[in-house]
Amino acid sequence: MVLNLGILISQNGSNMINIVKACNEKKINADVKIVISNNPNSKGLKKLRALKTKSATVLIKDFENKKAYENKIDELFKQNNVNLICLAGYMKILEKDFLEKWSGKIINIHPSLLPSFKGLEPQRQAIEKKVKFSGCTIHYVNEIVDDGEIIDQSIVRISDDETVDSLKKKILIEEHKLYITVLKKILNVYK
Ligand code: GRF
Repeated sequence: MVLNLGILISQNGSNMINIVKACNEKKINADVKIVISNNPNSKGLKKLRALKTKSATVLIKDFENKKAYENKIDELFKQNNVNLICLAGYMKILEKDFLEKWSGKIINIHPSLLPSFKGLEPQRQAIEKKVKFSGCTIHYVNEIVDDGEIIDQSIVRISDDETVDSLKKKILIEEHKLYITVLKKILNVYK
């Protein structure tokens, strides 16, 4: 089986670029069919221009409501034969209708060891709690934010002088590796 990926981003897009490159370099048997951003100024889309992967910007303000906005995203993914959606720094919550259409076919990456530190700024939450280990988690997406079945996790050690920024960088390095590991894992399941 070949994974036909659709990736949703909002900002920086480093996980997305890493996935696109891994596919292009045949490190995984997957193809990124389309990258969609809900932010026209996302740095990720700019970086993607050099890589020939199809992209689209879908802005919520151009639609009557969130359902219509998500219907457009659904349509684009279907038109491009996507069979797995990867959320990679997508800063919006997907609604029930969309989730039902793509049940079991959406995964997300979160920069903490779930179920700890759900929601916004998990790296700051980890530093403030003074935990000594954090990391990242890739999970299936369900109706509750950062709650779905965990697929895999990576751990990082938090040093005594760790800052939110240094922890973000440390975790991001692990995120890039973990996303590829998980895609390989999913491919093995459907082999
Ligand atoms: C990552 O830390 C990811 O875990 C979180 O948002 C950030 C996105 O980073 N969901 P990038 O856009 O992939 O660089």
